[in-house]
Amino acid sequence: MLCISVKEFLCWKKEQLSKGGDIQSFSFLLESIGGITTSNLNLISINLEGYLHLKKNLEYLESIWNEHLLKSCPIQYLCGITFWRDLKLKVTNKVLIPRPETELIVDIVFNKYPNKSEKLFFAELGTGSGAISIALAFAYPFSNGLATDIDQDALEIATKNYTDFSKQSNLKFYCGNWWSPLEIFKGKIDLAISNPPYIPKDTYEKLPKEVKNFEPKIALLGGEDGLKHIRKIIQKAPLYLKEKGWLILENHFDQGEKVKQLFINNKFTSIEIVKDLSGIGRFTIGRYK
Ligand SMILES: C[S@@+](CC[C@H](N)C(=O)[O-])C[C@H]1O[C@@H](n2cnc3c(N)ncnc32)[C@H](O)[C@@H]1O
Repeated sequence: MLCISVKEFLCWKKEQLSKGGDIQSFSFLLESIGGITTSNLNLISINLEGYLHLKKNLEYLESIWNEHLLKSCPIQYLCGITFWRDLKLKVTNKVLIPRPETELIVDIVFNKYPNKSEKLFFAELGTGSGAISIALAFAYPFSNGLATDIDQDALEIATKNYTDFSKQSNLKFYCGNWWSPLEIFKGKIDLAISNPPYIPKDTYEKLPKEVKNFEPKIALLGGEDGLKHIRKIIQKAPLYLKEKGWLILENHFDQGEKVKQLFINNKFTSIEIVKDLSGIGRFTIGRYK
């Protein structure tokens, strides 16, 4: 721990923010690497004559901030971590940085299965950093989960995130194309969740450079219309889900009605488009018969 005067720190902070960037990314850097939360900082700043403790020196924090500004690299990749729900997850450019709007997918599951002692058998397709599966495995300790991804590097990060933060052993990881690594579990899954790549090709080309240049293309691009992967997941779901099993999908802001139709075409019932906190139909859910 390094001890530094509040005055010096605030002066340094002002200088860093004057170079550009946004306050959220800067606060993220301070919290994840410096060990200072925003509420900590607010308290400390009351007494300008006081001192504060940092986990890393200002030069080190500044070098990360400069790299972030120079290359437009997401601060989470530079810091090597992200916060998602109550999890602190390791992230590298091999995995998508899990988004705040995706947090709601876990609440949708809570809503469908309010009893946390439930012995669910769930599968997450395209787990990336493992965020969704890890949150579910923690929340339902008597459940068993299967988390898949086509990218072995992503799976290694997800596995590490799980083993670093849990003594449980109720989540297993499988590499392969959507449902294919789960052949032996056909007809046995209570609940399947996926936040697949759903960005249409034209939109992908226009993504901000901090996303397009750094986050894995395989995690974002959903083919020409964005629905390439969603279609495959829905079409094969009836083979893997138990009768009345739920499929919960995240989709792009304007895909809800099309995804709903895909659910209907594949004999799902109880289909709903669930809005995110901005009122966008971000999730489509249904039950297999
Ligand atoms: C949008 S990211 C979601 C990651 C994570 N679940 C989250 O919500 O942050 C989509 C994930 O699907 C994986 N993926 C892409 N194509 C796949 C495929 N054909 N089969 C399995 N996983 C795939 C990507 O590697 C990526 O990790």
